[in-house]
Amino acid sequence: MAKQICIFASGTGSNAQKIIDYFKHHVDIRVRLIVTNKATAGVLTIAQKEGIDSHILTKNELSSQAFIAKLQQKNIDLIVLAGFLKLIPLSLIKAFPNQIVNIHPALLPKYGGKGMYGMNVHKAVRENNDTTSGMTIHYVNKQYDEGKHIFQASCDIFPEDTAEMIARKVLVLEHGFYAMVIEGLLA
Ligand code: GAR
Repeated sequence: MAKQICIFASGTGSNAQKIIDYFKHHVDIRVRLIVTNKATAGVLTIAQKEGIDSHILTKNELSSQAFIAKLQQKNIDLIVLAGFLKLIPLSLIKAFPNQIVNIHPALLPKYGGKGMYGMNVHKAVRENNDTTSGMTIHYVNKQYDEGKHIFQASCDIFPEDTAEMIARKVLVLEHGFYAMVIEGLLA
């Protein structure tokens, strides 16, 4: 039976789209479900367009046994966070040990933790005049951005790069590597 991925996303979903595209015709892996905490998230439009089941979380549902059961019923092998901004509760981590991964738009352990997401990260990199940034794919544990690293890729940052330009460079890395790393984990 094919391995099944569930993507959690809160926003635009450009990483989700890349992952869907990558596995569309894959023999062994498929994107089974998209979960979001925001009814207005762009990723829902993607799910609809791609004909993938989606689910909008209600308040506190993320830590409920019913939600865990829903994922188990769908035989989810890997939960992939792609711009998902809620903390993953311990109950879910315990139900899916080493089966939840996240992508973070910086070279962790730098620029991680609560509040460090999206443009906040890139603005901080700019303000500190760092000469490199990048992305980290890691397992999820109960602290934001602290699980074991799986893969990192970096890019040069030049003095003239704005935070928006840094964001674009990092997103190119995310789009280039996330699906491949997921494929490796499920091999
Ligand atoms: C990505 O850059 C991802 O690394 C970041 O949100 C963006 C989502 O973009 N995640 C975090 O900051 C998590 N701390 P997308 O919706 O276009 O895929």
